[in-house]
Amino acid sequence: MSKPIGSLVAAVAMTTALTGPAVAEEFKIGVLLPFSGVYAALGEHIENGFKLGLEHFKDDLGDHTVTMVRDDTEANPGSSLAKAKKMILQDKVDAMTGIVSSAVLAGLRDTVDAAKVPLIVANAGNNMMTGERCSPYVVRVSFSNGQVNRPMGKWVYDQGKKKVYLMAPDYAAGHQMMEAFKSTFEPAGGEIVGEAYPPLRGVDDYGPYLTAAKATNPDAIYVFFAGGAAIKFVKQYHEFGIKKDIPLYASGFLTSAAYVHVEGEAADGITSILHYTPNIDTPENKRFQEAYQAAHGKVGSEFSAQGYDAARLIVEAIKASGGDKEAFKTALRNASFNGPRGPMKIDPATNNVIQNVYIIKNEFKDGKVHQSVLDTIENVQDPVSGCQMN
Ligand code: BEZ
Repeated sequence: MSKPIGSLVAAVAMTTALTGPAVAEEFKIGVLLPFSGVYAALGEHIENGFKLGLEHFKDDLGDHTVTMVRDDTEANPGSSLAKAKKMILQDKVDAMTGIVSSAVLAGLRDTVDAAKVPLIVANAGNNMMTGERCSPYVVRVSFSNGQVNRPMGKWVYDQGKKKVYLMAPDYAAGHQMMEAFKSTFEPAGGEIVGEAYPPLRGVDDYGPYLTAAKATNPDAIYVFFAGGAAIKFVKQYHEFGIKKDIPLYASGFLTSAAYVHVEGEAADGITSILHYTPNIDTPENKRFQEAYQAAHGKVGSEFSAQGYDAARLIVEAIKASGGDKEAFKTALRNASFNGPRGPMKIDPATNNVIQNVYIIKNEFKDGKVHQSVLDTIENVQDPVSGCQMN
């Protein structure tokens, strides 16, 4: 029997009063990534992962929708700031994501904070943005430069390497990653015998840097390079012929699954540290890798996993907020789930992710590089480091 119209109206009015109107909201997300320059491969992997994450978790959106606008940041803080301002002021985005370079992130921080438009960082590890210069509107789902390098100093020392030479590109990420390594290597008793910081762009020949490093007679070299610079460095280190005597340890971006196949034999014997490796044996990672490989014909990297988790974080926050755009901002800071990399949780004290970090061995066998986990450091959490959320 159908209900009389009057009681139907009353029932609807009562539901509305209790829960608020169920309006299907559109969330417009600005994606800022390098699609050209030294970090172009990283941008492509993050965007692919982001789109896959939206596809996998779309049912959790209910009637709400996510749309994207995108722009190329290269690794250029100046032009990136102009593009972010356009997204905020003209496109009227509800949030932004992406950002590969620590320098680009530093340039955007104040604009994002003032506009109160959340930025879900899907790569750039700049420690200060979840430390001294933290903001309620900057939430990082990827890693901090300290988090994915700090454990390696003590670990390398424990392998009997007492004298280490450091090398990384001359910008915030390079310096922060080397400082993080030192922060556990030196207290353990290790000695840094030298350091070099070549420019981020435009170095074709690392030979002179390797000659200077070799002259200090280190037990090992520890480096961070990513993207095109990583491929060049790994190949030239191999050709230089010192790896047998001076083993290479690295922040794992050096041998990212995004390009380790291009490095090939030259990556053999490198030991690295990172928050993701493609063969993590969990259902979440299997689902991610199978779908990524089917869509793109290549292995998903840490960059793809970061994009995927950024999409999931956004979807989870929309779901938790019921589509309320202010509640969405708070929900971003309180998310936790098992992603391809393992358990992860946003730490509301800093807005940096808490996650496992893996020590990884690279071996060239049967014509390809195999990456296996030597050690897992669980639930690595950054210190608050002067972060005061306003
Ligand atoms: C950074 O600038 O923070 C960064 C860039 C590439 C890989 C890892 C970190």
